[in-house]
Amino acid sequence: MEFKRVLLKLSGEALMGDKQFGIDNNRLAQYAKEIKSIYDKRVEIAIVIGGGNIFRGVQAEEGGMDRTQGDYMGMLATMINSMALQGALESEGMQTRLQSAIEMKEIAEPFIKRKAVRHLEKGRIVIFGAGTGNPYFTTDSAGALRAIEIEADAILKGTRVDGIYTADPEKDPSATKYDHITFDEAYEKNLNVMDMTAFTLCKENDLPIIVFDMNKEGNLAKLLQGEKIGTLVSNSK
Ligand code: GTP
Repeated sequence: MEFKRVLLKLSGEALMGDKQFGIDNNRLAQYAKEIKSIYDKRVEIAIVIGGGNIFRGVQAEEGGMDRTQGDYMGMLATMINSMALQGALESEGMQTRLQSAIEMKEIAEPFIKRKAVRHLEKGRIVIFGAGTGNPYFTTDSAGALRAIEIEADAILKGTRVDGIYTADPEKDPSATKYDHITFDEAYEKNLNVMDMTAFTLCKENDLPIIVFDMNKEGNLAKLLQGEKIGTLVSNSK
């Protein structure tokens, strides 16, 4: 598989590092270094990051708040992470642009697909903040949607596990990792790749997903060099 343009989906929670809340600067710097290693190879990179280290929509609902209200708060949380990431990438000398799905023009460009693609063509990393701009969608769905819109070759889902397993490896020691699985198989086996909205978007638009361990040094670069890192989910066998 050749990667000219990718969408990297990062988890907000991963930004906490060893902390209980918020942003760990070491983790942020580590991610910036990983991303630099593929930026220097001229891969076109778009990024979507979650907001779970700051706020989760479901949390609001549990507290009796309206789900929609909570989801918008979550979208704002992704903007904080996006700005932190943008800052970290720029301090490593990368060119970036931040686009937001919710208009906040003093801090980010509005999301404009054609402009995003132009930025990518010029070698800028484009970070898409504020999810899809709609409640009831996750940042995985935002990642899938944006990846399809910009015609990325794949969505790279950076996690803290090294792929998709036959069962939860923390509960079942005999669980084995898939190198490659089709969307249909993953669905039949009820494997949790992404939420169903994101999963279906990828399947129907033939967008491969690669789930990999973003916290392991050098993994991202290896993945883009064609090494079999993580688990590939695609339509073709
Ligand atoms: P080109 O079309 O290649 O020149 O792209 P560009 O991004 O360099 O051009 P532009 O003049 O649109 O943007 C210059 C700077 O302003 C960049 O850092 C953009 O991110 C930023 N920018 C552009 N539009 C907005 C906006 O609506 N809000 C904010 N906050 N920044 C913006």
